[in-house]
Amino acid sequence: MREEAIMKTFIAGLPKVELHLHIEGSLEPELMFALAERNKIAIPYKNPDEVRQAYKFHNLQSFLDIYYQGAGVLINEQDFFDLTWAYLEHCHQDNVVHTEIFFDPQTHTDRGIAFETVINGIHRALEQGKEQWGITSRIIMCFLRHLDEESAFETLAQALPYKDKIIGVGLDSSEVGHPPQKFKRVFAQAIEHGFLTVAHAGEEGPAQNIIDALKLLKTTRIDHGIRCIDDEALMRQLIENRTPLTVCPLSNTCLKVFEVMAQHTIVELLRKGLCVTINSDDPAYFGGYMNDNFNAVAEAHPLTEQEIAQFSLNAIEASFISDKEKQRLSTQVHTYLDAFLKDSGKDQSARR
Ligand code: ADE
Ligand code: ZN
Repeated sequence: MREEAIMKTFIAGLPKVELHLHIEGSLEPELMFALAERNKIAIPYKNPDEVRQAYKFHNLQSFLDIYYQGAGVLINEQDFFDLTWAYLEHCHQDNVVHTEIFFDPQTHTDRGIAFETVINGIHRALEQGKEQWGITSRIIMCFLRHLDEESAFETLAQALPYKDKIIGVGLDSSEVGHPPQKFKRVFAQAIEHGFLTVAHAGEEGPAQNIIDALKLLKTTRIDHGIRCIDDEALMRQLIENRTPLTVCPLSNTCLKVFEVMAQHTIVELLRKGLCVTINSDDPAYFGGYMNDNFNAVAEAHPLTEQEIAQFSLNAIEASFISDKEKQRLSTQVHTYLDAFLKDSGKDQSARR
């Protein structure tokens, strides 16, 4: 087998953990059409292919405009179940064993959809995914940063009855012009209620947003964070603290954060000792789920199996599961890696 095919096989079988996935961003055009019909909602496309044609983005905002429009077909609890279930089918196919997913309550509550409808649909699907395939999960709700602080506070209040289903709060949407400090008070209140915190920072915005998200929002991991490379002191801090970055390679090239995958810095960050992970962000919009993201990185950057496995080990370390669960999943990864290297004659003993 050629090296590229070997890596593809290795990636396909590697147990993976996803930490950066917007459930609304997993809405495939086919499901969008089916839901539009079911809910009698007009959409400005004739067929799923036409929807895909519209997915030509030049920056984050050009994507967000289309993404929020797409979410308009989600109305009933069953729609949120179907959306989440379709994503879990991809997890099962891609050997994703644990996933921590985002949802954007305000995208739905602002259209008159009850918070309860959204969370119950998502949660029911995740429970079924655990039962049927053993895929474990957590739910994180994100505040839309282009909306005001008051709306975020209202959303936090709406979430309180569902605290048992939501592990943390996050911050997403348009980064430029909406820095972390805008949400300092609402994040402080979320922490008081026992939520963990994460935030998108340093995707399109500057390294300072990463510094501020860590300091002002007390986030335990950073979503994207790739602009950290511009600030040496920050880099040293991230390495020392093993602060996780949930990097999304295909998203970054689709939104022109990097022109091509060969320019992506994820491998450089990995080799410098940062806790970087690979994630799909909005797979229905950016051309691929977890395996596609791993393959895209491995095709553009020569990596060893150990390095690819390190992305999985980093994600396990960065996840919100118990230490015992982390241990169990890390053992799975090490067992898989060792067996693969042995079978392909690349392990140390075979070389002697
Ligand atoms: N919402 C969905 N995807 C996003 C991204 N990549 N950045 C910010 N907000 C988002
Ligand atoms: Zn994201």
